[in-house]
Amino acid sequence: MTPVGLRCAHLLDPLGVAPDRVRFSWRSEGSGAQQSFQVQVFPNGPVPLPAAAPVWDSGRVVSGDSCDVPYAGAALARGARYRWRVRVWDSGAADGPDPAWSSLAFFETELPLDSWRGAASWIGLGPLREDFTPPTGDGPADPVAMALRPAPYLRRAFLVAGPVASARLHITALGLYEARLNGARVGSGVLTPGWTDYRQRVAYQTYDVGSLLAGGPNVLGVMLADGWYSGFVGFDAKRAGAHYGTAPELLALLVISYADGTVSAVGTDESWQGRFGAVRHADLLMGERHDLRLEEAGWDAPGFAGSVPDNGGARGWRAVRCREVAGEPGGAGGPALVADPGPPVRVIESVPPARVWRDGAGRFLADFGQNLTGWVRLRVPGGMVLGGTPGTVITVRHGEALDDAGGLYTVNLRTARATDEYVLAGGGGGPVVLEPRFTLHGFRYAEITGYPGVLSPSDVVARVVHSDIAPAGSAESAAPWLGELLHAIDWGQRGNFISVPTDCPQRDERLGWLGDAQIFARTACYNRDVAAFFCKWLDDVADARLPSGAYPDIAPRLHLPWAGAPAWADAGVIVPWTVWKMYGDRGVLLRHFGAMARWMALLAQANPDFLRSRDLGHSYNDWLAPGRDDTPRELLATAYWAYDAALMAEIAAATGRPEEAAAYRELRAKIGAAFADAFVDASGGVASGTQTAYVLALHMGLVPDSLRGAAASRLVGAIRAADWHLTTGFAGVGYLLPVLSSCGYTSVAYRLLSQRTFPSWRYMIDNGATTIWERWDGWSPEHGFASPRMNSLNHYALGSVGEWVYRFLLGIDQQPGSAGFADLLMRPQVDPGGSLSWARGSYRSVRGVIRAGWQRTGGEFSYQVELPANVTATVRLPAGPDGGLAEYRAGPGTHEFTGHCPPLEGRR
Ligand code: BGC
Repeated sequence: MTPVGLRCAHLLDPLGVAPDRVRFSWRSEGSGAQQSFQVQVFPNGPVPLPAAAPVWDSGRVVSGDSCDVPYAGAALARGARYRWRVRVWDSGAADGPDPAWSSLAFFETELPLDSWRGAASWIGLGPLREDFTPPTGDGPADPVAMALRPAPYLRRAFLVAGPVASARLHITALGLYEARLNGARVGSGVLTPGWTDYRQRVAYQTYDVGSLLAGGPNVLGVMLADGWYSGFVGFDAKRAGAHYGTAPELLALLVISYADGTVSAVGTDESWQGRFGAVRHADLLMGERHDLRLEEAGWDAPGFAGSVPDNGGARGWRAVRCREVAGEPGGAGGPALVADPGPPVRVIESVPPARVWRDGAGRFLADFGQNLTGWVRLRVPGGMVLGGTPGTVITVRHGEALDDAGGLYTVNLRTARATDEYVLAGGGGGPVVLEPRFTLHGFRYAEITGYPGVLSPSDVVARVVHSDIAPAGSAESAAPWLGELLHAIDWGQRGNFISVPTDCPQRDERLGWLGDAQIFARTACYNRDVAAFFCKWLDDVADARLPSGAYPDIAPRLHLPWAGAPAWADAGVIVPWTVWKMYGDRGVLLRHFGAMARWMALLAQANPDFLRSRDLGHSYNDWLAPGRDDTPRELLATAYWAYDAALMAEIAAATGRPEEAAAYRELRAKIGAAFADAFVDASGGVASGTQTAYVLALHMGLVPDSLRGAAASRLVGAIRAADWHLTTGFAGVGYLLPVLSSCGYTSVAYRLLSQRTFPSWRYMIDNGATTIWERWDGWSPEHGFASPRMNSLNHYALGSVGEWVYRFLLGIDQQPGSAGFADLLMRPQVDPGGSLSWARGSYRSVRGVIRAGWQRTGGEFSYQVELPANVTATVRLPAGPDGGLAEYRAGPGTHEFTGHCPPLEGRR
C-alpha cells in the first residue's frame, strides 16, 4: 500500500501551521488494511534523505490510524519548514521487505509569537478623510453614503540585493487586504484575512513570493478595505466600528532569504506611504464604488512616478499612521496573531448568464440561473470605453429574485444595498474589465444601468466566491428532482461557507448562527471537505463564549451579549463531535475539551433537576417550524442537553478520559430519566405530540426501549395527521428522516422527501429554488414572497436533509464507535414504496473514496459497494419478505450483494 494525499492539519503543504495543530493524515492506495505505520519528520535543508537526521521518527507503530497522527517529537521550531513522509505496512507484508516511503510533503510552522513586534507595525491612513468628500446630493444626507470610506492604498519600495533562495510574505489586516508585488497579485485568496473576532484573534496568511521578486528595485503594494472589521456587518445597521475598529490597518512582514544565507525583512512601518485610491468605497453589505479616473497605473510596481528604489516618496502619497503590535484594542497583549488554519476564500468559478435582456427603462438584466454568492464581472469593449464620456457610471445591483413587474426584487436584502458602481475613465484604451474585490452579494439576478452600448451575454459573468472547500460527495438516482434538491443544498453551502458558516449571504445579517451550523454540519461534511474550515470556525466559537463559559448564538459574536439558545449553543459540542466523527480528528476534541466540559458544568449547575428549563437564552426553539411551534421549550432544551451528554461521553472516551466518559454517561442517564418522566407517557406519547418532539426524543434516545416502537408509530401518526407533510423547523428537521429510517419507516421518509405540496423540500424546488430557502413558505403562488423582513432564499439549515441521502439512501454511514470512516455500517434504504428504482453515489472520506449504489428489480435489489484501503464495513440488508436482516463483512475492493425489498412499513 502506498500512502498518498498527505495532509498536515487537513491542509496540503501548509505554509503556516501552529505547532500544536501539527497532525498528519494520508490515504493509502491499494486494497490492504494498514497494520502499522511510520512517520518521519525532517528539518528543511539541502541534506538529501535518508542522510538527514529526522526531528521525529515515530518508529513502526502498530496502528490502523491514518487520519489523525499527532506530531510527537521534540518541540518544533517556529517559522521553520519541515519535510515529512510516511510508510505503511499492511497485513500481508508483516515479514516482507519494508514498504516504500510516500513522496515527501512539507509544512511550515507559525511564526514565533514575538516575531511581529519590532519587525512590523499596524499601519493605515486612519479614519481621517482629508482627500475624500463624501458624495452629496440635493436630498437629505444619506447616512450610509456618509459612513462609507475610500480604500487605502499602501506601498513600500525596497531593494533585492542578490539572488533569492526563498521569500515569504506574512500578511494580515484589520479589515481586508489585497497584496501586490511588482504589479502582480499575491496569492489567489480574496476577502483575506477572513473573519475572526479581531479583538481576540487575527489570522494571517503566508505566501511563497520568491518568484515575484526581481533583483534591484521592488515594490510591495497593498489595498485595504473595511470588511468585517470596520464596515457594515450584521443586522443592527451600525458600522462594525462599534464592534471592532474604525479604519482598516495592515500588518505585513516580507522575509527574503538570500542564496548566500543572509536574511532580510521588509515590515510595515512608518517608511510606508499611502493614499486613498480609486476604490472610493468598499463594503461587504453595501457594495463597492470604483472610480477608474483616479486609477494610478503602476502604483504597485517600481518606476512609479516619484518613487525611488530606496523608498523615497511617491508624489501625492503621504506618510502612514503607525501603531505598535502590542497594546491592541482587545487590551493586554492584543489579539493573537495566528497562522490561518482555514482554507482561503477564492473565486471558485464563473457562471455565465442564462439570459440577458433589457427592460422598458433601458436597464440590462442578467439571470445567472443560480442563486449564488460573489459578484458580477463586466467587460466593456475598447470601442465603448473610447466612446463613453469620462465619468459615465455603470451601476450593478443584485437580487435573488424578480418581482411581479419583472424588476429586481431587493426588499428582502433589508438595509444591504448590494450595489457596485464603476466610474469610467473614458478617453481611450480598453477593453476594461470591471469587478469588485472587497464586497460580497447573494444573488441570482443583476441589474446593470449606465452600460455604454449593448451588453452582450459574453461580457457579463457571475463570479462565485466562497471558502475553498473541495467537493466530497455526489449522488444521483432515478429521480431527477432529488438531484436538483442536492444541487440546491450544495449551492446553499457554497453561498454561505465564507470564512465562517453564515445563515445567509444576501441581507444585512450574514452571521455565524450556531443553530444553523449544528443542524447542517453533517450534511456539510458529506457535501464538501470542510475539516479545516470547521476547525478554524470552532476557534471563533471558542472565542465567542461569554465570560461564564456559555456558548453563544453566533460566532464570531458581535453584540448579542447573552448565552446561546438550546440547539444553538449546543453546537459547541455537536460540531466538534461531527468533525471528529467525519474526519477522525481527535485534535479538535482535545483543543476544545475544556470549553465543552465547562459548558456542560454550566448546564448542570443551572438545572439540578436534570430538566433544562433555566438559562434558555433567546430560546428560538424549533425555529421557523411551519404553522405553530408547539414543541415545549423545556423538552427541546432537555433533549439537546441529553444529546450533548451522550456526545461528551464519546468525546471523553475518544480522548482517553474514561472517568469523564463514565460521568457523562451517568449524566446522560439522569437527563434521560428526567426527560422520560416529564415528557413521555406510558403509551409512548411524547408531550405536545409535535413531529419535532418525537424526532428529538427518538434521535437522542430518550424514549425507553420498550416504548420506542410505539413512539415511532406515533411520529408517523403525526405525519399522517399533517397529510404526509413535515412540521419541523430548524431544530428538528435534520433528524427527521434519519429517525424515520432508523425506526423502520423509510417509506414515510421517502414520502416526505418526495412530497410536492407545502411544506416540503420539493415545494421549494418546484417553485424555482436553486438554493434552500430560509422558510418553508419563502414564496408561494398564493401569497408571493413571505415577509421581506425575514426571507432569505439562500439559507442552508433546512437543507440538513442531505445527510439522510448519504447515510441512509446510499448507506454510506459509520458504526457507532467509528470515526473517520474506518468502520462502516452500510444499511441502504431501498424505497419500499417503489418510486425509486436506483440510486448511486460516492463520498470522498479521509481514507479514500467510498462508493455505493443499488438497483431494484421487482422485490429484489442488488447493492454495489466499493471501499478504499484501510476501510471495513458491515453491510446489513433486508434478506427476505419477512423483513429479516442479513449481515455481511466487507473490506477494501468492490463487492456486490443481493437484498430483498423490505415490507412497506418495514424493519426496525
Ligand atoms: C437567522 C437564523 C438564525 C435565527 C435565530 C435568524 O435571523 O437568519 O438563521 O438561526 O435568526 O433564531
